[in-house]
Amino acid sequence: MVLPLSGSKEGIVFTTLALVNPGDEVLIPNPGFSTYERAAVIAGAVPRMYVLDRENGYQPHFETLEKTDLSKVKLMWINYPHNPTGATASRKQLENIVNFAKKHSILLASDNPYSHISFNKTHEASILEIPGALNFAIELNSLSKTYNMAGWRIGWVVGNQKLIATISALYSNIETGVFNPIQYAGIKALQLPQSYITERNEIYKKRLIIANDIAQMLRCEKNETKATLYVWARLPQQILNAEEFCFDLLEKTGIFVTPGTAFGSNGEGHIRISLCQPEKVLLDAKLTLERYLRKNSFY
Ligand SMILES: Cc1ncc(COP(=O)(O)O)c(C=O)c1O
Repeated sequence: MVLPLSGSKEGIVFTTLALVNPGDEVLIPNPGFSTYERAAVIAGAVPRMYVLDRENGYQPHFETLEKTDLSKVKLMWINYPHNPTGATASRKQLENIVNFAKKHSILLASDNPYSHISFNKTHEASILEIPGALNFAIELNSLSKTYNMAGWRIGWVVGNQKLIATISALYSNIETGVFNPIQYAGIKALQLPQSYITERNEIYKKRLIIANDIAQMLRCEKNETKATLYVWARLPQQILNAEEFCFDLLEKTGIFVTPGTAFGSNGEGHIRISLCQPEKVLLDAKLTLERYLRKNSFY
């Protein structure tokens, strides 16, 4: 029920290649991490983007989806805590997703690498905690975010035994395994006390305050970041092109934020500010922006 991986990103591609056939449809969040869509395309499947919006708490609109033909949908990706919006899913919301997948005989893949970057809890729930999910769900996770080991490349996919065996059959013909020293480093990481995670999240909380200030200075309507490493913010309405705005900001101030369109068409009109930089860098960015805005405006 467990397959070690070199990070969850390759897991997204292996899972898709192993579980879908050309012509199958794959439900993918929009906005969302771009690899889900690319993996579907690589597999010759049809990506079917489903809308996540603020009004619906960034949860799938089941009623809208059910008005469409779901008969060709083989796999559905979910990602809570969600990159880029920072939204989370409650247990009840995860139950709704499991019920939807069960009703329509859809395999469920939960990409959960931000499970331990949570600002109100010690960790966010796993889809596999929901009764019945293990019959048709798998979950990806990694040490990239929880233990800041993104460059080490270590992760895993867990869940339904048959699905893991199918993914493993493909994996073992392409990969051989995770380099031993990295596995030992992973063991050390997992042996750290829980306080490591809470203390680390306190560091992100401080960065979050500054990133929220930056969003406000840019006159954005920010989202509440409940988890993940990102602030998702809606640009003022007169900004029609997020990418142009981001390049303009970069050229004029040297500050880079990610255009929402990097996460799909529903990211238009949004920016994502990352908490990956140290507090000092974020503070410098805030001061630089303050200085710029004293004499200039973006709007
Ligand atoms: C939603 C999501 N899934 C997967 C990944 C890839 O993580 P990993 O380093 O485990 O491959 C990322 C990294 O940014 C991510 O944001």
